[in-house]
Amino acid sequence: MSKDQFTVQSFKAAKTGGRRISMLTAYDYATACLLDGAGTDCLLVGDSLGMVMLGYENTLQVTMDDMIHHCKAVARGTRRALLIGDLPFLSYHVGVEDSVRNAGRMIQQGLMHAVKVEGGQDVIDKIRAILKAQIPVLGHLGLTPQSINIFGGYQTQAGELESARQLIDDALLLQDAGVFGIVLEKIPAALAKIVTEKLDIPTIGIGAGVHCDGQVLVTHDLLGMFPQMRPKFVKTYAPVGEQIVSAIQAYIQEVSEGQFPTAAHSFAMDDSVLAKL
Ligand code: KIV
Repeated sequence: MSKDQFTVQSFKAAKTGGRRISMLTAYDYATACLLDGAGTDCLLVGDSLGMVMLGYENTLQVTMDDMIHHCKAVARGTRRALLIGDLPFLSYHVGVEDSVRNAGRMIQQGLMHAVKVEGGQDVIDKIRAILKAQIPVLGHLGLTPQSINIFGGYQTQAGELESARQLIDDALLLQDAGVFGIVLEKIPAALAKIVTEKLDIPTIGIGAGVHCDGQVLVTHDLLGMFPQMRPKFVKTYAPVGEQIVSAIQAYIQEVSEGQFPTAAHSFAMDDSVLAKL
């Protein structure tokens, strides 16, 4: 472990010291090298890889094997960032034993440092068991995409009194259980502020306003590389998707017009060998 490694202990220190935490999704080796090298605190191998990497309609088809495959690649490209693997749909819903085994696979085979689990009260027995197995857990409340069929879509969550109170209770329950942080997705900013102020552990927002202790985004959204979905909370920092299309069009044109490759991209052969051919 390098001495500047971001760890779950750094999470606590960040909240105490008022230092905001940066988190981004990563699904492959090359991107992990870039994000880690740039200084991102945490890389999340999110089950959003089902849509972004695999072209699935939602996250529900993602399996443990899909996750492990991508986690291993991301781990190979990471030196400093805290690595968090998303437990996919059905990997922690069937039973406590199953949940611990799957969380353990994320650590042992996927080389992650921690797992993320969606839900509060409904899955608290699984979260407690995973923590008891010495596996750090990041919670996730609000819009939890694995519940899309219950929610009926990707609407903002916890806007009503009862659901807002439930979310606060869930956040406190998760903290009491021992999670090291909680992702708050697509909830009103004012509610995220209340939760953030009530907790001693950091909140990581995505579509949860300006008061969270940190922020997570899907990297492909930040780079304009996934136009299929564009939630309001996304900010595109560089139009890399458009730049890729322009670069590919230039390549196609140069190949078709014989401008690429040139002599500069070619390899020479010894004249004496050439003469004998
Ligand atoms: O799967 C994912 O990428 C996530 C983040 C958006 C929080 O859960």
